[in-house]
Amino acid sequence: MINKDIARVLISEEELSKIVSRVADEISRDYRDEDKRLVLLCILKGSIVFMGDLMKKLTVPVEIDCMRVSSYGSGTESSGQVNIVLDLIRPDLDSCDVLIVEDIIDSGRTLAYLTKYLLNKGVKSVRTCTLLDKPSRRAVEFTPDYVGVEIPDEFVVGYGLDYAERYRALPYVGILKPEVYSE
Ligand code: IMP
Ligand code: MG
Repeated sequence: MINKDIARVLISEEELSKIVSRVADEISRDYRDEDKRLVLLCILKGSIVFMGDLMKKLTVPVEIDCMRVSSYGSGTESSGQVNIVLDLIRPDLDSCDVLIVEDIIDSGRTLAYLTKYLLNKGVKSVRTCTLLDKPSRRAVEFTPDYVGVEIPDEFVVGYGLDYAERYRALPYVGILKPEVYSE
């Protein structure tokens, strides 16, 4: 049954599974023959569900790590400023080929900032992967290496994505009824 606050399902559980399989195949193919030490970096909390499904479908050896950043206030518009709430701390950064795993790219600020931040910090390489991309919303130029699916400019929740910390556990990606956030 669909949650009462969801206007409609944008990407069903079955579609998500196919999308994640396709992205996992692309990553596995690219990293198979390369002499890389793949570290999937989950950007908490939104990417938890995507990352969990993605890593199970990879056919190459992988390590995982987490960071948490905040760019959002409480509403549906980004504050524009990226804050690191939980940093990546490990002694072997210079041998890590980091693949940042994001739930969604909106303005592009979070991934543009994080890519630079991690390279400055001394990781060996950085690539980026996002489940959802809203290209029409870009405020800074940013092109991810792997994209699940492009979506229109709608505020979506579920499969890890939240509004005010709610709806993350929905198994699909749905469009939130506007009255929920304009109340
Ligand atoms: P960016 O820095 O503007 O690209 O914002 C990326 C972050 O904003 C994502 O990691 C999400 O946490 C959040 N975000 C952007 N659009 C949505 C949405 O439609 N639903 C839920 N969170 C979103
Ligand atoms: Mg996020």
